[in-house]
Amino acid sequence: MTNRFDQFRTFLKATTGVALESDQWQAAEQRLAPVAGRLGLSIDDLIDRFLRHSDPRLSAAVVDTMMTNETFFFRDRKPFELFREVILPRLLERKGEERRLRIWSAACATGQEPYSLAMVLDEEAHRFKDWTIEIVASDISASALETARGGLYNQFEVQRGLPVALLLRHFQRDLEKWRITERLRAQVQFQQVNLIDDFSRFGPFDVIFCRNVLMYFDQATRKTVLNRLARTLTPDGILMLGATEFTPGDCAFAALPESPALLRLRKSKSEAPASRLATA
Ligand SMILES: C[S@@+](CC[C@H](N)C(=O)[O-])C[C@H]1O[C@@H](n2cnc3c(N)ncnc32)[C@H](O)[C@@H]1O
Repeated sequence: MTNRFDQFRTFLKATTGVALESDQWQAAEQRLAPVAGRLGLSIDDLIDRFLRHSDPRLSAAVVDTMMTNETFFFRDRKPFELFREVILPRLLERKGEERRLRIWSAACATGQEPYSLAMVLDEEAHRFKDWTIEIVASDISASALETARGGLYNQFEVQRGLPVALLLRHFQRDLEKWRITERLRAQVQFQQVNLIDDFSRFGPFDVIFCRNVLMYFDQATRKTVLNRLARTLTPDGILMLGATEFTPGDCAFAALPESPALLRLRKSKSEAPASRLATA
């Protein structure tokens, strides 16, 4: 199976960016087994068909199962404080004439990140009267996006990181679960976007949250995606990475003083690039 697994991980990396280690076969097998079972195939046959890419639904199911969709509301808290206290005041000042903001949650998983951003914006709405604010949220995973669009979360999910006041304000009980209000849901547009593909048509954005996804890519892919994100940002735009994500030494970004995970475009080639491990 080793040879087959090598082919599988090479293909997965080429199509999604997600780089598996050579010793992760068992973990991969555990994820693939239920998909193979549902389709009445052996894992070998499933991989075969995935490699041939002859059945888009099968390929999507394999990609979905190989993704790690771990997320929660206000994950790591600090990025959302920085959004409120650093990013929004900066954009309020710099975009005061245009009165338009575009925000992108670039690997949104099941939606908790963009909805958290929408909740912060709702609290800050008095400062953005007459502004047009768009929140675009995307992911490669069709099933994660379906959950995100539905905005329906269980008790455990709403207990992770979400203050009770915001739960009561932005959710309604739906049997055993909680559903995001129509008003908040309408503020986020969900789309399927693969960060490995050309995504320039989505830009430009003033703020990009691209958190906890580059860590699944190898260094070369990370660099390619970061450079593309740089081209998708407005000149004053801000990119927020995850708390433990690296930026390659010669990237297009410089860190803001408030956090090494908070990046803006470098003004000139002589300016020092952000090249540290972000530890926000
Ligand atoms: C760990 S979650 C991060 C969710 C959220 N950003 C957070 O920090 O809580 C990683 C997400 O990246 C998505 N992903 C992985 N590879 C991707 C790609 N090539 N393009 C778009 N999304 C991808 C996965 O489907 C998954 O939902």
